[in-house]
Amino acid sequence: MNFEQKIERKHTNSIKWDGHQLFKANPEALPLWVADMDFKTDEHIVEALTKLAKFGVYGYSFEPESYFEAVKGWMQRRHNWTIEREWIFSTPGVVSAVNACILALTKEGEAVLIQEPVYHPFKNSIQYNKRVPVINPLKLDGTQYTIDFEDFEHKIINEQVKLFILCSPHNPVGRVWLKEELKQMLDICLKHQVIVVSDEIHMDFVYEPNKHTVAVSLDDRYQAFVITLVAPSKSFNLATFKLSQLITSNKAFMEKIKHEYERLGLHGQNQFSIIASEMAYAHGDAYMDALVEALMTNIEWVKAFVATELPQIKVMDIEGTYLMWLDFKALNMKQKDLADFLMNQAKLWLNDGSMFGEGGEGFMRLNVATDLETLKQAFYQLRNTIDN
Ligand SMILES: Cc1ncc(COP(=O)(O)O)c(C=O)c1O
Repeated sequence: MNFEQKIERKHTNSIKWDGHQLFKANPEALPLWVADMDFKTDEHIVEALTKLAKFGVYGYSFEPESYFEAVKGWMQRRHNWTIEREWIFSTPGVVSAVNACILALTKEGEAVLIQEPVYHPFKNSIQYNKRVPVINPLKLDGTQYTIDFEDFEHKIINEQVKLFILCSPHNPVGRVWLKEELKQMLDICLKHQVIVVSDEIHMDFVYEPNKHTVAVSLDDRYQAFVITLVAPSKSFNLATFKLSQLITSNKAFMEKIKHEYERLGLHGQNQFSIIASEMAYAHGDAYMDALVEALMTNIEWVKAFVATELPQIKVMDIEGTYLMWLDFKALNMKQKDLADFLMNQAKLWLNDGSMFGEGGEGFMRLNVATDLETLKQAFYQLRNTIDN
């Protein structure tokens, strides 16, 4: 486990490092955008995949019981969440699962609630499937975001919301929701019969003293209407494998969701993905602990550097995820000019805050899951450009 070593990812078909043309980015811009990491995954995973690759026979396959045991074990050990094997359904990515839930559990024209600024595919999933996005904007108090519960309930009632997509921990604002906040939201959903899809893909990236709570684990009554989405893809840098887990004890929901995948002919599993996931969940504890520590070092470095060298930029509190949410409003630029300035003058490829919806203007999202030298390079470029 070496999170300090720079790994050359150029010319590996990486969206982040080689996707400049694809995404019309400046070819010279240093990429600190899309949420994957520049770190090597856990050695247990590499070894198991190597063994499978060498075996050389790659026929149709399914998940062994040991995979389900590994998922259950991780959730129990790391998140104090007891689940059963029948509650787990392997899905080809969390975004596909969000879409499948929308299709399976709502009808065209029905309202789906999200809390912007938020991971932008949520809104896309709602709109692609001809449902109506309803926004409960997060409130910004200083450098921390909170929930406007009054607006949350008001919108649910007035817009007749059928489903709420929760992002926990929250991308891009970095909140790790408190138990009380989760309870308040879920109690409102329970009261008004709103189904909750809880995207907890960032659950393993939480910085002390914050603690992640799996929303559905807070109260037995929540099991009837909450679907939890998790994946080892962020935690172990396995995004290319397209594997995630949809977890719900609601059998009727499960049947309907499985049917959506069946309709598309999406059944069967990629053995590489299954093995990588099993190894991650079964043996990845030490890797995960060391990774969180390395990310904390990077985050602390950014905060210290910005405080002394870039007072124009405000860093929002980051309790979880490896995505920092930076406020550039003091530069007084229009969003388009800000994006252009960062990409073409500072030569930094960040995520434009406006893509995350309401409240995203004036912000940029920075991915700190890279070696510290690369991160420092990015901030030197930024400081020098702003100074000039
Ligand atoms: C909140 C959230 N959900 C889902 C995803 C993507 O999941 P997947 O690649 O499994 O579709 C991301 C990736 O950045 C994310 O931040």
